Amino acid sequence: MTDDHVATVGRGSWVDVRTRRVACHHSAMGDVRDSAFLRAARGEPVGRTPVWYMRQAGRSLPEYLRVREGVGMLESCMDPDLVTEITLQPVRRYGVDAAIFYSDIVLPLKAVGVDLDIKPGVGPVVAHPVRTLEDVAAIPDLTPEHVPFTSAAIRSLVAELGATPLIGFAGAPFTVASYLVEGGPSKDHALTKAMMYGAPDVWDALLRKIADIDAAYLRVQVEAGASAVQLFDSWAGALTPDDYRRSVMPYSARVLEGIGDLGVPRIHFGVGTGSLLGLMGEAGADVVGVDWRTPLSSAVPLVGDRAVQGNLDPTLVFAPTEVMTARAAEILDAGRAASGHIFNLGHGVLPSTDPDQLKRLTEFVQSYRA
Ligand code: CP3
Repeated sequence: MTDDHVATVGRGSWVDVRTRRVACHHSAMGDVRDSAFLRAARGEPVGRTPVWYMRQAGRSLPEYLRVREGVGMLESCMDPDLVTEITLQPVRRYGVDAAIFYSDIVLPLKAVGVDLDIKPGVGPVVAHPVRTLEDVAAIPDLTPEHVPFTSAAIRSLVAELGATPLIGFAGAPFTVASYLVEGGPSKDHALTKAMMYGAPDVWDALLRKIADIDAAYLRVQVEAGASAVQLFDSWAGALTPDDYRRSVMPYSARVLEGIGDLGVPRIHFGVGTGSLLGLMGEAGADVVGVDWRTPLSSAVPLVGDRAVQGNLDPTLVFAPTEVMTARAAEILDAGRAASGHIFNLGHGVLPSTDPDQLKRLTEFVQSYRA
């Protein structure tokens, strides 16, 4: 092994950037590559189904609320020590099989200089919504120098995580465009879709810009040590399959193909995407995330040879424990028909979730055998 393909990632570990192999000098920590999560993502046999939760960090955890006191959301995302602590909190509490990097889908836009904030209880709010070609041209491309705190946080995290893989993420072009065009959260994405239908030149420029920012931001995360990535197209379910294929899929494919050389599994997730699952796989995903509205048994044939992730209704964590675990067992059984299955909720952990109940769910999934 020569120096040009070995990068130091922090205390006692190194990455071979040709094979993305993360090894640890402490053999007791095991090898990330052999983790149940990465094996399932690659469609390899696993002893048991791995589990993690979208939004496992955040407001459902009292320890999160404590460390966030007096610190703004975006401010917290740019502080490597806070990012490390918040990312590790759910791993410590639940013993989940993967960590997800604590950040937000609008963070890379903030990093390149877009004037935006995340308002508590509201979500991302953009000061000057993007409507014209000039507005798009004013958004800089992302370089690693824009996000030094991201590289620093991930290097510190992978050193702490040992054999537990870290998932990096970005928001897909359509979902991020919705915040930029609407200026904030939207139910029907009417202005966004009006641009898509009526101003194809602006749409193309904007989605290309976001796709390139996404690919650059994901590359920074993987080069710092993330061993999988998830592309969140949370609001893609607002689209018909034809519109998705024509006006959105090419840009998500640009992101997923743009990082294909890195060799890490790419998870592609959206909400309400029952009619889009095949296309979301074809966009270049290794794993297709499924929300809770589509039975996993219906989703599996749609994604071909790819692994699936999901898909317990997040409100089932509010049900009696035996109801929750019975539904989880159905999903685990259905997942066996896929080339790989990663257990998750069908969308993010709700802020009012009881962490003790999520802990019971985790223990159930990790001890379940067919
Ligand atoms: O644990 C994890 O999953 C990692 C952290 C994470 C956050 N945002 C932290 C966050 C992830 C993966 C995201 C992605 C994200 N952000 C998505 C895609 C996932 C999804 O839920 O569909 C979207 C659409 C956003 C945009 C966004 N940011 C929304 C809609 C909100 C919620 C607004 C609210 O307060 O209800 C945010 C804020 C946000 N992002 C919080 C967290 C922990 C809450 C902010 C706080 O604690 O004050």
